[in-house]
Amino acid sequence: MSLPIRPAVQASPDYPFSAVTAPVKLDQNESFADFPEALKVMALQRLSELPWHRYTDLHAEALCEAVARHDGWSASGTVVTTGSNVLIALLVQLAGMGARVLTVKPNFALYALDARLLGAALTEVPLRSDFSTDVDALIAALGEAPGRGVVFVPRPHAPTGSLCGLDELERLAQACRDGWLLVIDEAYHPFTAHDARALAVRHPHVVLLRTFSKAWGLAGLRLGYALAGDDVARQLRKLVPPFGVSVLQTVSALVALEHPDYVRERVAHTLHERERMTTALQSHPHWQVFPSHANFLLVRTPDAAAAHAMLLAAGVLVRRQDTLHGLQGCLRVTVGTVAENDAFLRAAGVGA
Ligand SMILES: Cc1ncc(COP(=O)(O)O)c(C=O)c1O
Repeated sequence: MSLPIRPAVQASPDYPFSAVTAPVKLDQNESFADFPEALKVMALQRLSELPWHRYTDLHAEALCEAVARHDGWSASGTVVTTGSNVLIALLVQLAGMGARVLTVKPNFALYALDARLLGAALTEVPLRSDFSTDVDALIAALGEAPGRGVVFVPRPHAPTGSLCGLDELERLAQACRDGWLLVIDEAYHPFTAHDARALAVRHPHVVLLRTFSKAWGLAGLRLGYALAGDDVARQLRKLVPPFGVSVLQTVSALVALEHPDYVRERVAHTLHERERMTTALQSHPHWQVFPSHANFLLVRTPDAAAAHAMLLAAGVLVRRQDTLHGLQGCLRVTVGTVAENDAFLRAAGVGA
């Protein structure tokens, strides 16, 4: 007897991740430091005073308001869920099912996985050889039938760290006007100087995706959100599971949003360390490091498997990216603490 599972699900590979432990963990683009201890204590204190037997807000309204205040957005246009990866699937449901998902390649795995799982026709436009986003090719691809669906563009791009210009995204947003939702995934925007909010204000079919998992140091909490126009947000909320954001997630994120200074300090550390690591890696005789606008660096080596194993033998875990389109030999390394980065640089043969 065959199981009553849709062929698209059966044909889909598992999420491409296997857990490996190592003393220096630089493989998942997490924050280099935990949520501050004093804020953890504050959140737990508040949690102990709240009722646990009651459901939380239907759509995390209190948290949406705090996120919106922090990000300079409207609460009615803010949609919070348990991780921005949930929102990727919901946005495919919202605009891509029975239509198309258009994105670039290489890319964050979920855009393509969700497109296939949810039965959207997938088009992936290769990045240029310098890893810049080929907006002309994306615009040309919009024209193929059916000319509607959802476009995903990460900014900064993961896993290369490149940054699509806002003027380029403006051209894409204009071309998307009829029938396309344009989703700009800003998971790593705190590590760049300019974000895409002004663009999303100008264009009601543009949605920004953000997360507490990276700069905020809360990957384990599982919280992400969309900033959208009110009309799109209202429709998107219909797809969000009711009462989905727990009381723990809500109080912890509220405490974080009341104390955003720690994020600013950590971003400054990461930018400084990113520069230091880039400079050190530039002296490597065989590796090439690419400029990055995020909290990680992409490095091309002559042999990714050998380089990964050599780093792991020295206790440093990074992520192989060499099976992705155009990334032969590439590894991705998260910017960590000074000591972790030193361990990586030493293992790579370019550290003191
Ligand atoms: C580009 C990009 N988007 C979204 C996510 C998912 O973030 P979250 O932890 O909020 O699900 C990640 C996580 O690595 C990412 O790299």
